[in-house]
Amino acid sequence: MDNFEDKVAVITGAASGMGLAFARRFGQEGMKVVLTDVEEDALNAATQALKQEELDVIGVQANVANLDEVQSLADTAMKEFGRVDILCNNAGVAGDLDFVGQRNQPLWEQSPELWNWTFGVNVTGVLNGIRTFLPIMLSQNEPGHVVNTASMAGLLGGSSAGIYGATKHAVVRITEALYFQLMEAESKIHASVLCPGIINTRIFSSGRNRPDIFWTTDEKPDESDTGARIDAGDQFFAHGLPPESVADQLLESIKNNQFWVLTPDVPLERISIRHQHIIDQTNPSQLPPLTPIN
Ligand SMILES: NC(=O)c1ccc[n+]([C@@H]2O[C@H](COP(=O)([O-])OP(=O)(O)OC[C@H]3O[C@@H](n4cnc5c(N)ncnc54)[C@H](O)[C@@H]3O)[C@@H](O)[C@H]2O)c1
Repeated sequence: MDNFEDKVAVITGAASGMGLAFARRFGQEGMKVVLTDVEEDALNAATQALKQEELDVIGVQANVANLDEVQSLADTAMKEFGRVDILCNNAGVAGDLDFVGQRNQPLWEQSPELWNWTFGVNVTGVLNGIRTFLPIMLSQNEPGHVVNTASMAGLLGGSSAGIYGATKHAVVRITEALYFQLMEAESKIHASVLCPGIINTRIFSSGRNRPDIFWTTDEKPDESDTGARIDAGDQFFAHGLPPESVADQLLESIKNNQFWVLTPDVPLERISIRHQHIIDQTNPSQLPPLTPIN
C-alpha cells in the first residue's frame, strides 16, 4: 500500500501504547481510523484527544477475545466508513510477563485462568480479527494490509514468560500462514508481523483489563502488592523505545510490504543462537536477562 489518503484503518488495543501511536500516525497520513479497545474510559479519552487534533477517528469498545463483539465492531466500522483497508490486530496482555522477578512463577504453578485469559486476548483475539475482517477486505479487491502485533518473545526462547511467549510464537506462525494464504489467493492484501522489543507502554499493567473470572482467589494481588509491582514494571518499560517510533517504522513497513517488522532493539544474535541450536540439535543455552536500550 502506498496511498493512505481516505483509507480506513481498524486498530485493536488503540486506547494506549502502540495502538494509540498507530492511530495517531495513520490519522496524520489522512486515514480514517477506528480505534477499538476493551478499556472504555481510556478509549474515550484517546478518541477525544485524536479528534481534538482534527483526525478523522471513531472509538468502538470491543473485547477482541469475543467474536460477537468483534463482529459488531466490523459492522460499526462499515456503517461509519464503508470500507476497511488496514487491520492492526494489536491488543495484547502481558500474562506471565514479568521483568521485575517478583512473580516469575514456573508454568506448573500458573493457573488455567491466566493461560486462558492470555491466550484469549493474544491469540483468539488475532484470529477473531482475521476471521471477521479478511472477508470484508478481500471483497473490496483493493490493496490492503493486515498487521499482527507479536513480540520479540515470539522469536526467542528462555525461561521467562512461557505463557506470553507461547501466545506470541502463535501470532508469528498465524501471520506467516496468512502471508502465504493471501499470496496463494492472489489477493492485494499483504500481511506483516510486528515484533517489538521493549517499548514504553502500559503493557506491564495489563492486569487492569483482566476480568474477574480469569483471576483465582490466591492469585489476585492485594492493592499494595499491585502498586509496588506495577511501579517496578512500569519503570522497567519506561526505559523502552517510544511507541511513536514503532508507529513510524510500521508505516514504512506497510508501504514496503515488509513481512518481518522488528524494532531496532530486538537482540538478533539471540534469535540466531536459538535457531543454531535447532539446526544443530543442541540444547538451549541460558542467556542473561534482557534490558531496555534507553
Ligand atoms: N510494550 C512492549 O514492550 C511490547 C513488546 C512486544 C510486544 N508488545 C505487544 O504490543 C501490543 C500492544 O501493547 P502495548 O505495549 O501498547 O500495551 P498497552 O497496555 O499500552 O496497550 C494494549 C491495549 O490493549 C488493550 N486490551 C487489553 N485486552 C484487550 C481485549 N481483551 N480487547 C481489546 N483490547 C484489549 C488494553 O486496554 C490496552 O489499551 C500487545 O499485543 C503487546 O503484547 C508490547
